[in-house]
Amino acid sequence: MSFPTIKIGSLLLETPLLLSPLAGYTNLPFRLVIREIGSIGLCTTDLVNARSLIERNHKAIKLIETRAADQPMAVQLFGSVASEMSEAAKICEQSGAASVDVNMGCPVRKVCQVGGGSAMMTEWQKTAQLVKGMVDAVKIPVTCKMRLGWDDDNITAPDLARALEEVGVAAIVVHGRTRQQGFDGQVKLAGIRKVVEAVKSIPIIGNGDVTTPEAAKKMIDSTGCAGVSVGRGAFYNPWIFAHTWHYLNTGELLPEPGFDERLRVMTRHLDLMIEVFGEGVGCRMFRKVGPWYAKHVGPASFFNKKVVMLMTRTEFDEIVAGYRQWRAQFLDSNGALLPRFAAAPIGMNFSESSTVQEMQATPGDEDGEGIPAVAKRSSIPVPSGPNELW
Ligand SMILES: Cc1cc2nc3c(=O)[nH]c(=O)nc-3n(C[C@H](O)[C@H](O)[C@H](O)COP(=O)(O)O)c2cc1C
Repeated sequence: MSFPTIKIGSLLLETPLLLSPLAGYTNLPFRLVIREIGSIGLCTTDLVNARSLIERNHKAIKLIETRAADQPMAVQLFGSVASEMSEAAKICEQSGAASVDVNMGCPVRKVCQVGGGSAMMTEWQKTAQLVKGMVDAVKIPVTCKMRLGWDDDNITAPDLARALEEVGVAAIVVHGRTRQQGFDGQVKLAGIRKVVEAVKSIPIIGNGDVTTPEAAKKMIDSTGCAGVSVGRGAFYNPWIFAHTWHYLNTGELLPEPGFDERLRVMTRHLDLMIEVFGEGVGCRMFRKVGPWYAKHVGPASFFNKKVVMLMTRTEFDEIVAGYRQWRAQFLDSNGALLPRFAAAPIGMNFSESSTVQEMQATPGDEDGEGIPAVAKRSSIPVPSGPNELW
């Protein structure tokens, strides 16, 4: 393998591929699943409120739970009080985090109202001082994650990145959209490139709509970023890191995992959920996880309707057994999914690309009967639920 990997401060990553924080999703079980599949450089937790961590709030402590198999792991903090951010960074260091990431890209109102998240990008000198306090407080690297800026008239990421590099930030992840864009429109590769050009030597990691190995390579080639961070694409396809690393090194696209492999990994995911959160909570949390795995295996309405009410591990085995029987109607005599039921591959959604396939986004994979709409898609859904504002 010869594709260059990255160093974040003293931390040499196995690959330049990172798991982005996804509040409500990037918990310990999911990170472990990703690691078992392999080729991940660094996993980040959901964002954690600095003050809650200092107050030893149970939920905050649970969010930073880690173990040896979960390394290297970064905790993402948010907050706007410098002393609290430094104190929380120390707690992360003592709890085994390999690095601490500062959230500067959260477009959610409640985060911005208290001055954290994207609001930080409008006051970048104050922000740089806050982050300097964190850098001085811990030995582990401090990184930052930001959007391009507040809106198209306020593209602050290059200036902010330069200021952050000067105070000792070890790497920066840039989501190539503005706060105003939310998740709409295309990721602007030129915007990421400007951040790459603004800093002297720290790695800039591109983020946004990386859903395939080709998209990862496109982002790296077009922006000069040192690596990519994948959020929704990892939930959509936990194999993305392994496949991307292989592709970057060989130019070869590995075949998509088959039904049985997806089922094996999904079951492992559930077992880890139960191990970490207990059977009741783990099964309830899994209700929004199962349907993501099912997005790739053809018609799945039978499975989805049942898994969203999952209560026990035993019940899961029953659901899978029933699903296998129901799914048989969509298979050929060799047990392979008939092509007309396969979900469409996802395309790229970047601007300024001569090779971007401009595809019409379609709302979902399936109609009400569980029959996939075999149409081209350019976007990946933003998960609904309590985090729908991200
Ligand atoms: C459900 C959800 C939760 C998110 N939670 C966080 C978070 O806690 N911290 C953060 O910096 N970004 C968060 N994001 C933004 C992602 O980390 C990422 O920047 C964004 O989704 C674009 O990357 P993607 O297209 O690979 O998903 C979240 C996004 C989603 C969809």
